[in-house]
Amino acid sequence: MSIIRSQVIGCGAYLPDRILTNAELAKTVDTSDEWIASRTGIRRRHIAKDGETTVDLALKAAERAMADAKIGADQLDLIVVATTTPNETFPSVATSVQARLGMTRGAAFDVQAVCSGFIYGMAVADNFIKAAQAKTILLIGAETMSRLMDWTDRTTCVLFGDGAGAVVLQAGEGKGDSTDRGVFNTKLYSDGRLHDLLYVDGGPSTTGTAGHLRMLGKEVFKHAVINIADSIEAAVRDSGVTVADIDWFVPHQANQRILDATARRLKVPAERFISTIAEHGNTSAASVPLALDVAVNDGRIKHGDLVLLEAMGGGLTWGAALLRW
Ligand code: UT7
Repeated sequence: MSIIRSQVIGCGAYLPDRILTNAELAKTVDTSDEWIASRTGIRRRHIAKDGETTVDLALKAAERAMADAKIGADQLDLIVVATTTPNETFPSVATSVQARLGMTRGAAFDVQAVCSGFIYGMAVADNFIKAAQAKTILLIGAETMSRLMDWTDRTTCVLFGDGAGAVVLQAGEGKGDSTDRGVFNTKLYSDGRLHDLLYVDGGPSTTGTAGHLRMLGKEVFKHAVINIADSIEAAVRDSGVTVADIDWFVPHQANQRILDATARRLKVPAERFISTIAEHGNTSAASVPLALDVAVNDGRIKHGDLVLLEAMGGGLTWGAALLRW
């Protein structure tokens, strides 16, 4: 039996030039390279310069992914951007990217699931392709988290960074078994009761400002490993493969200790978890496609590999996506 599979045909990423080290941060808040590195694994992060926006980062990642996929804007049916830091309250980052790519057809919209945004976007894109409502989709995760930081709050401002990553997904044919290339499963979850663990204290309908990110880090940590491991197991269930078969885990980059604990819980070698946390910090919805791009370009992820993407973030939201590259 032949079925439609959403296959990744290209990927790309972009990081702003400016690098902010832990040592530099220690000059402005009461922290140290030692504390940040040992508690999180983060050494440095990229920060967008004044006037450099989420749309700018998204566009650069998109252009690289489209060049990798060898497709033009006239071949795209849909743009989905996962972001929690849009240029404007409206319109979406996606429609701005659409305009700057010169794409005059199809549709474009943003998905808001904070750090889980890229996994949510992957689920949306996969379902559009499976429903034959789109053939070729540009999926971007792009953030300027630095703009949501309270730079006097050492419990949050040392954790986040800016960046963007993108993939092009295209409908391809599969046999309907686990040897196919493309997305097998996406699993999404949320629990809105956990709002107070991670949120931004502003918005158009409340303060009229963008607000600042607030997090009860220890509480979020407690949910992270269990929720992520459960969603990975759910994504693998009835896909014809096992967790042990997964070649590469591409996790949301919030904390190296979360990555290591998840690997231990799933009983897989920690080396199979792609980690960019030291160089990128937490870039929210951009972190998974940024890590994906690193591992594809350094030759770790190859065609035919079984790849698991996962994330957890504000909402709380979490989820996983299983695909063959
Ligand atoms: O991306 C969305 C999902 N987010 C996450 O998954 C984040 C999950 N949480 C975490 O990664 C960790 O909880 C953090 C990295 C945020 C914090 O690490 P922790 O080991 O849970 O530290 P803590 O919050 O329990 O703080 C321990 C101590 C506290 O001091 P006292 O109360 O023990 O005296 C903090 O005030 O460390 C202090 N502290 C710091 N010290 C130096 C907190 N932030 C800093 C800092 N530098 N930047």
